[in-house]
Amino acid sequence: MILKTKNLNLFYGSTKAINNCNINIEKNKVTAIIGPSGCGKSTLLRSMNRMNDFIDSFSIKGEILFDEKNIYDSKIDATELRKSIGMVFQKPNPFPKSIYENIIWGPKINGFEGDKDKLVEESLKDAGLWDEVKNRLNDSALSLSGGQQQRLCIARAIAMKPNIILMDEPCSALDPKSTAIIETLIKKLRKNYTILIVTHNMQQAARVSDFTLFLYEGEVIEFGDTEHLFRNPKNKQTEDYITGRFG
Ligand SMILES: Nc1ncnc2c1ncn2[C@@H]1O[C@H](COP(=O)(O)OP(=O)(O)O)[C@@H](O)[C@H]1O
Ligand SMILES: [Mg+2]
Repeated sequence: MILKTKNLNLFYGSTKAINNCNINIEKNKVTAIIGPSGCGKSTLLRSMNRMNDFIDSFSIKGEILFDEKNIYDSKIDATELRKSIGMVFQKPNPFPKSIYENIIWGPKINGFEGDKDKLVEESLKDAGLWDEVKNRLNDSALSLSGGQQQRLCIARAIAMKPNIILMDEPCSALDPKSTAIIETLIKKLRKNYTILIVTHNMQQAARVSDFTLFLYEGEVIEFGDTEHLFRNPKNKQTEDYITGRFG
């Protein structure tokens, strides 16, 4: 287990967005978070690398443990934490710089002194983008297709050598072909990384994840082995949701 929540409650002002969440995230596995719009998926995901710190009204009760350490402890530097727990967003957001610069920028400002070309090549290879861009590394990242831009953002996260990669609906802005490429990539990445993916697409959760968490109105309704959850849900609400009989 690499990440764990203990009696976790997340708030915006006095409104509770996540209620008493207790989950364990396994290392080198893909965990999907599913549930209807507004149920708290992004809030939960973003609390795991303290992206919610940027929202004034946000507050937390309980703990999130990463390698047994509480990430909200006052001794933890959130910027340092985000090097270990990277994030990929819904809309591809490359910097308006070259493909090469997109990858090397993060490591560079963090004092990377190794072989830059090698790091760029390795990161792009890991993200399954190298062959498509190896002859145009100095082109603008914005000249890439949406699907390529999203893989560049994954490569950019990888270049920081994180332990965990958080993905918030990473395919929702992409066409089916780019989505399929990224799904294949996610399954490959778990060899070296732990992945948490938020998706409103249940088929996608079923295809890519080892474990699935079903959230409803801020409550963890069911969390377990993906195959089991989709084939034989324990909870009636989960069953209604995955069979589309949700009222
Ligand atoms: N910045 C914010 N300020 C206040 N409330 C928010 C904020 N972001 C999300 N919420 C509320 O928290 C709840 C969960 O939202 P969110 O985590 O974005 O859900 P999901 O990702 O599942 O669609 C919703 O009721 C939403 O309106
Ligand atoms: Mg969301």
